[in-house]
Amino acid sequence: MNGIEVLELIRAGRLWLQVEHLHELAPDLYWLMRAAYDEFRRRIPHFTYFNLYTNLLISGPAAKVTPHIDVAEVLLFHIRGHKKFTLWDPAKFPVPDEWRESIILREQLEDIPLKPEWLGMGQEAVLGPGQGVSFPFMWPHAVENLGELNVSLQSEYHHPASIRRYAALFANGLLRRRLGLSPQGTGPGALGEALRAVAGLMAKKLKVHSPKPRKVALAFVVDARAEGGVRWLPEQERMLVTK
Ligand SMILES: [Fe+2]
Repeated sequence: MNGIEVLELIRAGRLWLQVEHLHELAPDLYWLMRAAYDEFRRRIPHFTYFNLYTNLLISGPAAKVTPHIDVAEVLLFHIRGHKKFTLWDPAKFPVPDEWRESIILREQLEDIPLKPEWLGMGQEAVLGPGQGVSFPFMWPHAVENLGELNVSLQSEYHHPASIRRYAALFANGLLRRRLGLSPQGTGPGALGEALRAVAGLMAKKLKVHSPKPRKVALAFVVDARAEGGVRWLPEQERMLVTK
C-alpha cells in the first residue's frame, strides 16, 4: 500500500499510525517541539527535561487507547480532530505498585486492568486543535477519538524526579521478586525514595535484572479489503512477536 491508501484506511476506522524519526522525516516539527520545550524550561520554575522523544500520531475516528501507564513524562499537543482524554488520580483510584513495577521490569505491556466500575469515573477532558495535555508521572489514562481523523504531536521526556521514582520502583520490584520482601511505598519522603533509587540504578547498571523480550500475540493484520481495514486472525494463526 502507498501512503495515500494507508491514510484512507486510517480515516475509515480504528487504525493509527505513529510516525517516528521526526528529526529526519519532518525536521520542522521536531525543532518546533524542541523550541517549545526550551521555552518551558525558561518560563516554568524547576522544569527541565532530557531524553526528549517525539512522534506524530495520526489516528482514525474510532481509535481508542485503553487504560495504561506510560514509563515517561508525557506531553501531547493536539493538532486536528477531537479526542477524549481520561485520567485516573491514583489518590482516588489506587492501583498497586506491583503493576508499575511489572511494567518497569518489562514483564508486561503498559495496559492495566482497571476495575470496570472505574471506567466512567476518571477525570475527562475533550481536546481540540491547539490544546495539549500533560499529567503526573505514571498516572493511569485512556484516550478515545470522537469521530474524526485525529493528528497529535506527542512527546515523552524524563525529569530528575521521574527518574528517581522509576529507579525506586525498579528496586522495589527486585526486592519483591528476588528477596520475597513486601516494600511499602518507595521509601519515606524524597530522601527515602532517593536512597531506594540509588539501589535501583546500581542494580540496573550491574544488570541484576535482564528481562526476556516481551512476547505479544499478533491478533490482526491490516488488510484494505477487510471491514475497517482490519482482518482478525483465528487463534491458531496468531504469531508471537517481540515488543
Ligand atoms: Fe499514554
